[in-house]
Amino acid sequence: MKVMEPVNIGIIGLGTVGAGTVNLLERNANEISRRAGRHIKVKGAAVRDAARPRACSTSSLELGTDPFELTDDPTIDVIVELMGGETLAREIVIRALTNGKHVVTANKALIAVHGNEIFRVARENGLVVAFEAAVAGGVSIIKVLREGLAGNCIEQVIGIVNGTTNYILSGMSKSGRPFDEKLDEAKRLGYAEADPSFDIDGVDAAHKLTILSSIAFGIPLDFANVYVEGITGITSQDIAYAGDFGYRIKHLAIAKRIDSRIELRVHPCLIPVEHLLANVDGVMNAILVVGDAAGPTVHYGAGAGAEPTASSVVADIVDVVRTLTTDPENRVPHLAFQPHSLSPLRGGPMGDVETAYYLRLLALDQAGVLADVARILGQRGISIESIRQRGTSSSDTPVPIVIITHRTLESRIESSIPELESLPSIAQKVVKIRLESMASHPE
Ligand code: NAP
Ligand code: HSE
Repeated sequence: MKVMEPVNIGIIGLGTVGAGTVNLLERNANEISRRAGRHIKVKGAAVRDAARPRACSTSSLELGTDPFELTDDPTIDVIVELMGGETLAREIVIRALTNGKHVVTANKALIAVHGNEIFRVARENGLVVAFEAAVAGGVSIIKVLREGLAGNCIEQVIGIVNGTTNYILSGMSKSGRPFDEKLDEAKRLGYAEADPSFDIDGVDAAHKLTILSSIAFGIPLDFANVYVEGITGITSQDIAYAGDFGYRIKHLAIAKRIDSRIELRVHPCLIPVEHLLANVDGVMNAILVVGDAAGPTVHYGAGAGAEPTASSVVADIVDVVRTLTTDPENRVPHLAFQPHSLSPLRGGPMGDVETAYYLRLLALDQAGVLADVARILGQRGISIESIRQRGTSSSDTPVPIVIITHRTLESRIESSIPELESLPSIAQKVVKIRLESMASHPE
């Protein structure tokens, strides 16, 4: 039998994911080469500070600080970009592709924002850019959507796709810990982005939704058209009140086909406590995909962290190694659909979104307050499913009133809020959180 040369890879970034990848490639080298058909050798790595201690061994690789030494090294076959950020990462990936190297990346910001350009350059050069680790850490959701569900018309993709925000929300909910404490833990555990505002403001989840929706619906990557809200407005009080009504608050990334439109939104959401997604806690992620043939399928696993993410990076490296010998024209397309078959995204304004709502008002306990609130909602055709006043009060001490509405248009809720806030008996801004019943088919 002919002994094949090892495949040389260059890794850019040896932080949480990079070190996890080196460790996994070393620990499971034998199993991995049995699968890939070739031995995989980490020839070199680039970091910002070469003197910094690493969570992996660097004795058998060339360690430097210039990523372009790796992209320009003719002996390297695959560049693995695990550095993060958009600008330099884009330059590195484009340079690697123009130098004829395949690319593996875990960088969702890069793919969501520059993916259309990167895939075009990859196609022109007959190369693969693989990015399984960019969405939901160790969950192979890209492969599932791109290959496993290729026979379906996808109706919905709804996911908990950010480990940090789920870690914070479930910590606040289950053990009553404060937001900042859980965020600090998520940073320590290597879950959070270098700039954690990407996690808590919802941007990271929006990057991931951009990628998922493109692969699910055959549309170009279009990050600018995702509605984004983070979790910084969620209080322990809202988590407790939602629980009283039988709901949990989760940070969801939602892509839904509504007639010929596709809704793309990321925001906190009440979901029924008995739904699978409501029981996904800590750093775990889960993505519900509804296909017309497969029906609902749920894909669950660790959404962040060194080895779960490295698991997806290494799977991509193995895939790339396997494709080294296949005809570029006959590979699985980057975005699942053939590049000439992508349809333009037809989105729509958030005002057209139809869902139920949780509203929390702080009101003086005076005669007629509830009637005023009901009148304002009723005038807009918003029907109330439940309403509860929290606690007793005197007429000059405001108390929270929590309302769950039936499904209605967001534009109606938006127009009612200023009128509610202008009532003399309403003491504070109205808190609004969307609520999804999580029915697998549009109601
Ligand atoms: P990280 O721990 O901050 O590591 C980043 C690495 O990149 C560090 O080794 C850093 O070097 C290196 N680096 C930064 N700028 C550089 C430059 N200009 N030149 C050379 N090297 C440079 O980040 P991470 O958590 O591993 O994340 C890496 C990527 O994976 C990001 O795109 C992230 O979104 C994605 N991701 C992360 C996770 C996770 O759980 N952490 C999960 C999925 C995807 P120094 O160590 O010397 O500073
Ligand atoms: N910061 C990201 C998260 C890393 O918490 O989900 C995984 O993509």
